[in-house]
Amino acid sequence: MELEELPGVGIATAEKLREAGFKTVEAIAVAHPAELKEAAGIGESAALKIINAARESLQMGFMTGIEVLEKRKTMRKITTGSKSLDELLGGGIETQAITEFFGEFGSGKTQVCHQLAVNVQLPEDEGGLGKSAFYLDTENTFRPERIIQMAEGTGRDPHEILENIIVARAYNSDHQMLLIEKAEDIIREKNIGLIVVDSLTSHFRSDYTGRGMLSDRQQKLNRHMHTLQKLSDIYNLAVVVTNQVMMRPDFFFGDPTAPIGGHVVGHSSTFRIYLRKSKAGKRVARLIDSPNLPEGEAIFTVTKDGIRD
Ligand code: GTP
Ligand code: MG
Repeated sequence: MELEELPGVGIATAEKLREAGFKTVEAIAVAHPAELKEAAGIGESAALKIINAARESLQMGFMTGIEVLEKRKTMRKITTGSKSLDELLGGGIETQAITEFFGEFGSGKTQVCHQLAVNVQLPEDEGGLGKSAFYLDTENTFRPERIIQMAEGTGRDPHEILENIIVARAYNSDHQMLLIEKAEDIIREKNIGLIVVDSLTSHFRSDYTGRGMLSDRQQKLNRHMHTLQKLSDIYNLAVVVTNQVMMRPDFFFGDPTAPIGGHVVGHSSTFRIYLRKSKAGKRVARLIDSPNLPEGEAIFTVTKDGIRD
């Protein structure tokens, strides 16, 4: 269905909407009226009407339990490379969801992201989606050399695997948000099945320092997570984000760390996995508040070939 077929959208409005990144009825259906208002220079009530028409044409809005179940059936999983980690996650990283890996430096967050960018490309019967990866690198830690090793570890042609990872560097938090907000073209063109944001929070932490800026930061982060969630829903893709934890030296009991981004990130991630280093190069993954899986732990290793049991 073309934008022009929506009541209230003429050729000029459709053009403006497309220029602003609203290229499909799906994108309009999940937009906020204020966004459309700004993009197309139309009134708020006109924007609302267009959004409602888009939703109706896609039969969005209320769903019965059966319909939710049908949508869940289109959900797919990507293997992490470790059986025990997959098991902890109920089979792998889910599409239509945001999975957050948080942990200290060196806990393996970036390694897991690299592995998933390879594994999403595997055929479905080998735990992949047969699709490409979009890798948003905020800390300049994406390493093609590492992808080559991991591709070889799965027996694939490293060149082909690298060809199907689209890497974008984000230079600050606004740039990061923009890259995700403009990602729809790439998602469609390149058949993206996984979006990685490594790290989700580092730019936000350095761009918004000081207590006075905390609410601004949380608001922006909230919007960013919302955009990611929308993309995962519309395109049935997996979103994986990383988050470093801060040490809390004044903490005497329990775990002396706290993920950056606090409640906003925590509440908008569907799955949260806490990674920590253990003996002999082992890593421990702990699943924290998942909607449908029991809490638990898994042990995996980072090897030359990638993530393994
Ligand atoms: P920050 O981004 O600093 O918060 O850390 P991170 O959680 O992203 O850590 P990362 O995934 O970069 O883990 C780095 C660790 O992975 C190293 O300290 C190594 O233990 C391990 N590692 C990285 N590359 C290799 C490799 O080629 N072979 C092996 N065996 N281990 C590796
Ligand atoms: Mg890292």
